[in-house]
Amino acid sequence: MQANNVVFTTEEAILGAAELLRQGQVVGMPTETVYGLAGDGLNPAALARIFEVKQRPLFDPLILHVATADEAFGLAERVPEAARELARRFWPGPLTLVLPKREMVPDLATSGLPNVALRVPAHPVAQALLRAFGGPLAAPSANRFGRISPTDAAAVREELGEAVSLILDGGPCAVGVESTVVFLGEGEALLLRAGGIAVEEIEATTGPLGRATAVEGRPLAPGQLRQHYAPRKPLKLVREAGEIPARGDVGWLAFGAETGAFPGVRENLSPTGDLREAATNLFRAMRRLDDDARVGTIYAVPLPTRGLGRAINERLERAGS
Ligand code: TXA
Ligand code: MG
Repeated sequence: MQANNVVFTTEEAILGAAELLRQGQVVGMPTETVYGLAGDGLNPAALARIFEVKQRPLFDPLILHVATADEAFGLAERVPEAARELARRFWPGPLTLVLPKREMVPDLATSGLPNVALRVPAHPVAQALLRAFGGPLAAPSANRFGRISPTDAAAVREELGEAVSLILDGGPCAVGVESTVVFLGEGEALLLRAGGIAVEEIEATTGPLGRATAVEGRPLAPGQLRQHYAPRKPLKLVREAGEIPARGDVGWLAFGAETGAFPGVRENLSPTGDLREAATNLFRAMRRLDDDARVGTIYAVPLPTRGLGRAINERLERAGS
């Protein structure tokens, strides 16, 4: 697609985007997880613009994206060995590490928290943009607050429209769910958000991850506390497919070999039962059912809780809450 503010990613488009970012503007950026709304991570005015465009509350902090692990760790006050090990294994990729922040990181990026979220994305367009810009880019998912994250350029446009002057089109996102967010403190490792790297894979390095929503009364991952990923239509989670009403106005987010007749609209996340494929298709399928005039209510059954199934289920639960 080539709507007026969406451009295919030529070298020229990337240089143009980097220039807009230097001026404090915000740009739609593809990553391997979901599209981000990028702005200069060290410029408070640009950060404020991100919150404004997304209609995001200021207490929900942003991830800073950088091109290399060295740059990431340069923004942290202390880097535990476990962080270096995770970085070696999973960066560039769908992992975000939350570490004590250095002074130079603006409070607006961390919502006043003492920690900063850091990620090295793998998508070649994100990498090229980060290198052309030459500094950290703050980038939340490029949806309006609480809505379904966009996994292609058209969805970014649908979410944010004219509020962004430029959206780089890097094709559909390969991972399809957001990064896994891990907090690493003194001798403790906590899972703040399940995401594109399976928890089991992280735990192979860190040992069992704790789950905490707050430390000393301060929310650790404020973005995890409320309704999220929400379609406009009601989404109902049921225990098994037999509980889904056989009606024409029902949208079904199915998984695995579901081939029986169904009078509604069925979107199968992965007919072969592949959890990675299901993650890739999740938000796109949710968006399609949300946009389908025949559908009144969306139904889903939780997926198996191994691998990326956990990240998918968390999103289904929040979408349905
Ligand atoms: O895959 C991703 O992570 C995407 C792409 C664009 O990189 N970004 C993304 O950003 O999902 P966002 O803002 O939609 O989600 C960031 C999550 C939120 O749950 C937020 O609360 C948490 O990370 N977070 C950010 N900074 C934090 C911090 N300093 N401490 C704890 N949690 C933090
Ligand atoms: Mg988000």
